[in-house]
Amino acid sequence: MSKFKFPEKRNVKSIGGFHGVSAIFPKLQDIIDYEENNIYINRGYPRFVTHPLIKVLESENKTNFNAVGAIACHSYQSAIFLVIDFFFRKGNKIYFDEGLPIEFYNYLNKKFPGVITKVSDSEADILVISSQNGTFPSYVTGKINIGLLGTDKLDNSYKSSELNLLIRHDQKNNTGIILIFSIRNAMLTIFRRHIGFNISSRKICSKEILIERKLRHEVNLKRSIANLEHGDPNNCFLFPSGMTAIFVSIFSLLSIKKNQFIALGSLYVDTIRILEKWPKKYGLPETIFIRESIIENLEDSIGENTAGIIVEFPSNPLIQLIDLEKVVKIAHSKGVKVIVDNTIATPYNFNPFDFDVDLIVHSTTKFLSGKNNHIGGVLLLKDHKISKKIDNFTKLANLDMDFNEIRILTRNIRNFKDRMKKINENSAIVAKFLENHKAIKKVYHPSLKSDPNHDLMHKYLKGGSGLLSFILRESTKKKAERFYDNLHSPILKGPSLGSEKTLLSPYVIMAHYEDSKEELENLGFDFYLMRLSVGIEKVDNIIKSLDHALNFSN
Ligand SMILES: Cc1ncc(COP(=O)(O)O)c(C=O)c1O
Repeated sequence: MSKFKFPEKRNVKSIGGFHGVSAIFPKLQDIIDYEENNIYINRGYPRFVTHPLIKVLESENKTNFNAVGAIACHSYQSAIFLVIDFFFRKGNKIYFDEGLPIEFYNYLNKKFPGVITKVSDSEADILVISSQNGTFPSYVTGKINIGLLGTDKLDNSYKSSELNLLIRHDQKNNTGIILIFSIRNAMLTIFRRHIGFNISSRKICSKEILIERKLRHEVNLKRSIANLEHGDPNNCFLFPSGMTAIFVSIFSLLSIKKNQFIALGSLYVDTIRILEKWPKKYGLPETIFIRESIIENLEDSIGENTAGIIVEFPSNPLIQLIDLEKVVKIAHSKGVKVIVDNTIATPYNFNPFDFDVDLIVHSTTKFLSGKNNHIGGVLLLKDHKISKKIDNFTKLANLDMDFNEIRILTRNIRNFKDRMKKINENSAIVAKFLENHKAIKKVYHPSLKSDPNHDLMHKYLKGGSGLLSFILRESTKKKAERFYDNLHSPILKGPSLGSEKTLLSPYVIMAHYEDSKEELENLGFDFYLMRLSVGIEKVDNIIKSLDHALNFSN
């Protein structure tokens, strides 16, 4: 008898409404069960959990084309890129059919020569067949590994009835579907994650919109964000997710000669994954990870081939700061660009361009939106010379922000400054409360005088922002469970951050469950680390809820 058990389906409550980007996990064991694949959930963070609307689109297409699986992507072109990026390791032989834009092949071949070997269909390891009309050519029937379906430049008179399904959902906004015909279904989940070309649930239920209308909204949003970041709206790019903004920033700086990255301090898990995986995949030199803020090491690590340095300000989840002025000075003296992920500090507290940083990225999903109902990313450039490179790739892969996501962000960003003012105030009070609580061993927040980042906070930030982390006095599963399971309103037990609602998540369990003990030690992470994203509620109520739960863990 096989011991394999299908995961149990769990309906969970979403935070942020129907298009919410987080879900409530009432018990700590729910998170462990999710990580162990004992349960699968119907709502959650869009890069990890497929929204019910998208699920319908995917399953209908999967059935329709008799595929093993189907993955919906932001656009037809981004689906093509995702397939290429996912499957093609150095030396893989690929067959592209005529329908796939040759520009992609040319682009990647120029950037990473020899990575993709284009061959005839009979010699191919992997066949990629495109379809803009809903039919796949009969000469490869039974052989196709990957099918790509899209509605870009669709000619109505030519479409087959199969494509009606896609159009019914997509309304010709240009969605891409990757159809998997012959690999294991388990691989599908990996697709969605790291580089975040995910499709917004809003996109597939929206009507076709006028280009001029979209452009007008886009221009206005870019103007607001650029204004907040002391940047230029013409050098501002909107993306379907924060990870896409990060991916594009790294990808655009890489070239044949400048082919290595340096990662400074701790970074968000999927940024680490991109920096780890990419060099291997494309045969580039490995990323240099300087985990601690030892800037002295930086100068020696920069080589002729260093393309860029990426740093989070402050870092997630330990809220560490770095002496950025020094980093930029060293980098620029060697002709190296600096990317700052300013998601956590936010432009309310810090403007990297004032310190001569070259590229700023944000997950707009977080503080800039603040409502847990939007997913997106933004990239801003100081130097317009890189703008062309970013623009080229962005257009090639058709990586814009969906119109409806633009509309929601435009609405949410209006009270950004008021929200951040309150979040700064609340988080400093909550950090102090936690520091003095007998059930707590350690609190990470730069507003605390005892925090090693306190002086740097005064040098760079207006306030400590809303993210803080802490370790329980006794950091065991039992105590973590007693704390977590007894938390109540107004604190919501869900991942994500930057919402006006206070969110708590055991970050390391959630994001680094698979990492070994040594890896966690290396990163400086306690397995039961609790990460709190403080919101705008009455601070007494946040404290009351924390105190109540902490007393259970004591
Ligand atoms: C600091 C930071 N940057 C980037 C991201 C990725 O953003 P998104 O989920 O919008 O792709 C995250 C996600 O949690 C993050 O915490």
